Formats: sequence, C-alpha cells, structure tokens
Amino acid sequence: MINVTINKKAIELDVDPQMPLLYALRDELQLTGTKFGCGAGQCGACTVHLNGQAIRSCITPISAVANQKITTIEGLDEHNNNKVQIAWREYKVPQCGYCQSGQIMSASALLAKTANPSDKQIDDFMQGNICRCGTYKRIKAAIKSAAN
Ligand code: FES
Repeated sequence: MINVTINKKAIELDVDPQMPLLYALRDELQLTGTKFGCGAGQCGACTVHLNGQAIRSCITPISAVANQKITTIEGLDEHNNNKVQIAWREYKVPQCGYCQSGQIMSASALLAKTANPSDKQIDDFMQGNICRCGTYKRIKAAIKSAAN
C-alpha cells in the first residue's frame, strides 16, 4: 500500500510501486487533467507539483512520492481560479490545449518560487514544456500578467 496526499486528500493506493505517478493519477484516480505526452520526461505535458515543485509524473514512480504531497491541475484551485488559470483565460493561451495543464503547473511552480520572473527566468524554467501549437508568446504574456 502506498500512502500519498493528492490535492489535499490522503489516498491509499494498492499498485505496483514502480507504476508511474502519471498512470496512478489517470488510471487509478481518474485525474485525467494531467496528460501523457512523450512518457519519457521530455515534453512536460504530465507536469504536477511534488511538495510545490514541478515534476514530470511520467518518469516518477509512485513509490518515490510516498507520504508526500502531490498537486495536479485539478487541485490547483477548487474553482479553477488560480491566478495563472485566470491569466491563461484572459490571454486565451491554449490552441489545441493538450499541453496546457502541464504548462500551467510549471508556470504556477515558477511563480511560487520567483514572484516576478524576468524573461530569461521564464524561458529557462518553461523550456521543458513543449507546445506543438507554438503558444509560447501567449504563455509568456500570461505568466507576466499573473506575476503582477
Ligand atoms: Fe511526461 Fe512528456 S509525458 S514529460
């Protein structure tokens, strides 16, 4: 049994300890806002927070997060009104939308750590989150707006 706190709820999971956290979220807990992109830690679609830090859930075994706190896009704000989500709507960031929960989770981790990030800090932090639609300009604008 693996105990983990997900979106402020204590959860017990009876799964293979090597199961990727992403699979546990999506398949065991039906938290499907976190997306499978590459499955290899390269695209950022599966980004969640581990104790507030952005991590790639596709390459993180569930056992590695035992007794720790995970936040997914569903838990960022109960009304989807986290300041990053508000900015995302205001700037109409998504195109196809697939990568966007990962983008939002990375952006919110960045702003929690660096309240007013420079362009370079945004670029450096967000570079692991790939968007095939190329919404990068709007992502940056939304992050700057959320920072203010
Ligand atoms: Fe995890 Fe691409 S699905 S980084």
